[in-house]
Amino acid sequence: MKRLLFSLLIILLTLSSCTKKEEKLPLLVLRYADNQPEHFPTTKAARYFAALVKDRTNGMIEIDVFSNGQLGKETETFNQILFGGIDFSRFSLAVLESFNPRLSLLQLPYLYRDGEHMWAVLDGEIGNNILESTEDKGAQGLCWFDAGARSFYTQKKVTKLEDIEGEKIRVQESEQMSALVQSLGAESVQLAYGDVYSALQCYLIDGAENNLPSYMSTGHYQAAPYFFLDEHNRIPEIMMMSDAAKEKIASVDPSFNAIIKACALDASRYERELWQKEETSALALAEKEGVTITIPSEKEKERWAERMKNIYKGLKEEDQFIVDEIRKVR
Ligand code: GCU
Repeated sequence: MKRLLFSLLIILLTLSSCTKKEEKLPLLVLRYADNQPEHFPTTKAARYFAALVKDRTNGMIEIDVFSNGQLGKETETFNQILFGGIDFSRFSLAVLESFNPRLSLLQLPYLYRDGEHMWAVLDGEIGNNILESTEDKGAQGLCWFDAGARSFYTQKKVTKLEDIEGEKIRVQESEQMSALVQSLGAESVQLAYGDVYSALQCYLIDGAENNLPSYMSTGHYQAAPYFFLDEHNRIPEIMMMSDAAKEKIASVDPSFNAIIKACALDASRYERELWQKEETSALALAEKEGVTITIPSEKEKERWAERMKNIYKGLKEEDQFIVDEIRKVR
């Protein structure tokens, strides 16, 4: 009997130590911010990134993803990243122009022939050098995400350049994006992403510009149902990590920062696949919801591009050199 009780005790102890192992708590819990909703490709990729990190660090590093701007607007989140209050976040390059002006070269109007050209640049030497140039300034870029091409959408139908002249168009908090809109003879209004819907509804602005998936997922199409597919620029997005997070991760294990980088690159590939699908479904939804999509003729697009050439005039010599190199990438 004594022997039986003893064996039972051993079994119980073994079982409880096994359970404890499974419930092992992470050594570090970090926070990741995205201003897009849960179902959006960037947020899904953030969750994928978090799962990869957890798996490849044997559960030692956990990343909590906060979507939908729960941790603040893009510019606020960026300040938090610099102070180490938020560990990771995904940004549209437009809001980072004062942090690193080189990033805004990648969003110049009509810079790329198409999405493939943009990815050849981002995946190549130019993209890597620019990503590296973000290091040692309080935060560093880990990888690029796709955000397609941006076009104008308005409350009044736009079919030609003259239609946008004098219109109040919302832009991101970016001087370059303001200049782009002004080059068309329109008025630019800088607003945070989350404030655009009510600004459209209250007629504080006449329109805005964004990629089709954002236009549909925010519901902006309800207040501005005319989408003019001029595809004036592609603004890549970047996943950033704060320097404070980098240090915390290294203190758990110095080899972990290389794992984080590899997970970010995998998440970037995943996001690109999701993005392609999202563009297709956003277009189908736009058609279903009765959005009027105007596809300008090549000649009309050329007129818009001609006006936007103004933006290139202020470039420094070394930046013009990078732009020329970007154009050569095949
Ligand atoms: C895109 C981008 C957002 C950004 C938004 C904007 O939707 O993914 O991060 O905030 O553009 O126009 O502000």
